[in-house]
Amino acid sequence: MRLILDTANLADIRYFNDYFPICGVTTNPTILSREGGDIVSHLEKIREMIGADKELHVQVTETEYERMEAEAEAIVSLLGKNTFVKIPATPDGMRATRELSARGFGITVTAVLSASQAMLAAEAGAAYVAPYVSRLENIGADGVGCVRDMARILAASGRRTEILAASFKTAREVLECALVGVQVATVSSDVMKNLLRHTTTDTSVTGFAADWKGAFGDSTLLELIKNR
Ligand code: G3P
Repeated sequence: MRLILDTANLADIRYFNDYFPICGVTTNPTILSREGGDIVSHLEKIREMIGADKELHVQVTETEYERMEAEAEAIVSLLGKNTFVKIPATPDGMRATRELSARGFGITVTAVLSASQAMLAAEAGAAYVAPYVSRLENIGADGVGCVRDMARILAASGRRTEILAASFKTAREVLECALVGVQVATVSSDVMKNLLRHTTTDTSVTGFAADWKGAFGDSTLLELIKNR
C-alpha cells in the first residue's frame, strides 16, 4: 500500500520525505489553517520540497461547482503536475468532479463517509476517493468495513478510481485497510512513526551494537574493510 503524509508542516514533510517511503502529501483547509501566514507560498514550498514527481493533494475552499472548478484550475496552475484537487462529496462536488475529470484533472473526492458516496465519486470519474476511517470509527460505525465495501464496489465497477484512505488515529486502522485491499493511505506524522516503531527493534539494535563493541571495540565494519 502506498503511503502519503497528511500534514502541511514543512519540518515534518522534509523529515518524512527524506527518511520514509512516502509518495506525496495531502492537505485540507484545517491542516493548512494550522500553518497560517502566506499559505500560497507555503504550498509552493511543499511542492518544491517533495519535487515534481510526488503527489500533492490540495482541497478547494469553494462550495459551488463553478467556483470549485475555477479554484481547481488555479491550484493546478500554481503547483503543476501530480497535483490532485480534493473536492468534498457534495452535489456540487460531484458535478465539479465529473466536469474536471473529463478535462483531465486528477480529482480526490474527500470527506467520504459511505460506500454509496464512493460509488458516485467513481462514476463521476474521480482518481481517488478518500474515506475518513477514524471519523467513522469515532461515531461507532465500522470504518474499515465501510472501506471494504468500497473496495468491492470499485472493483466491480471497472473504474480506475483508487481508495485513498484517510483520517487515521492508529497504525492498526491503517493495517486493517491494507488487508482489505486499499491502494493508498494518508496518515499523520505520529501514525507514520508508529507504523515503523517497535520496541523489540530498538532493543535488537542496541544488542547488536553492544555485541559488536564487545568483540571489535570502536572499529566499524567499514573501517575494518578499508584498512584491510
Ligand atoms: O486528509 C484529511 C483527513 O485525513 C482527515 O483527518 O484526522 O481530521 O479526521 P482527521
